[in-house]
Amino acid sequence: MTEDDLDDVLRIENLSFPQPWTRGMFESELHNPVSSAFVERVAYKGEEVLAGYIVFWMVVGEAHIMNIAVAPELRGMGLAKRLLSFALNYMEQSGISSVFLEVRRSNTAARRLYEKFGFEEAFVRERYYGDEDAIVMRLELKQGSCRGI
Ligand SMILES: CC(C)(COP(=O)(O)OP(=O)(O)OC[C@H]1O[C@@H](n2cnc3c(N)ncnc32)[C@H](O)[C@@H]1OP(=O)(O)O)[C@@H](O)C(=O)NCCC(=O)NCCS
Repeated sequence: MTEDDLDDVLRIENLSFPQPWTRGMFESELHNPVSSAFVERVAYKGEEVLAGYIVFWMVVGEAHIMNIAVAPELRGMGLAKRLLSFALNYMEQSGISSVFLEVRRSNTAARRLYEKFGFEEAFVRERYYGDEDAIVMRLELKQGSCRGI
């Protein structure tokens, strides 16, 4: 992800979350040395479009997924699986052993996605989003395994 991607990223972000990140928040991730941010592009209606993105932090062996979203018109096609698969492989190659994330209790689509990759519920952060609890999910990466979809 670069500054040039942010108009497309913000369109998806604003359509995806009740409390979306601002442009400033994405900009600070781009300048944060512990943060990695990737976009996924696909061919759609004859042109290449930015379909989704993922932002995560890596600090001393642990990764934390901060944000992931796919454009509403491109959901249900396996693009989040591809994005997450890429990110987990990248983390594994960077020596990460544990991955954490927070997800809204009601976000069935995201919870199913994470479970598919072996994430398990670790604990609950009550009222984390103000109006809703967060489920904290954790995945232990096994070094040397090849992560497919
Ligand atoms: C969650 C999200 C990223 C999934 O993106 P996607 O590209 O549609 O997901 P995929 O097509 O790769 O599906 C991956 C898996 O997620 C689950 N899933 C996806 N959409 C689902 C839905 N509507 N209901 C239930 N499970 C769903 C399924 O297990 C699916 O695997 P399957 O197709 O083999 O059954 C997307 O819905 C999104 O951007 N939501 C808004 C932002 C968000 O909530 N991000 C997560 C914050 S924690």
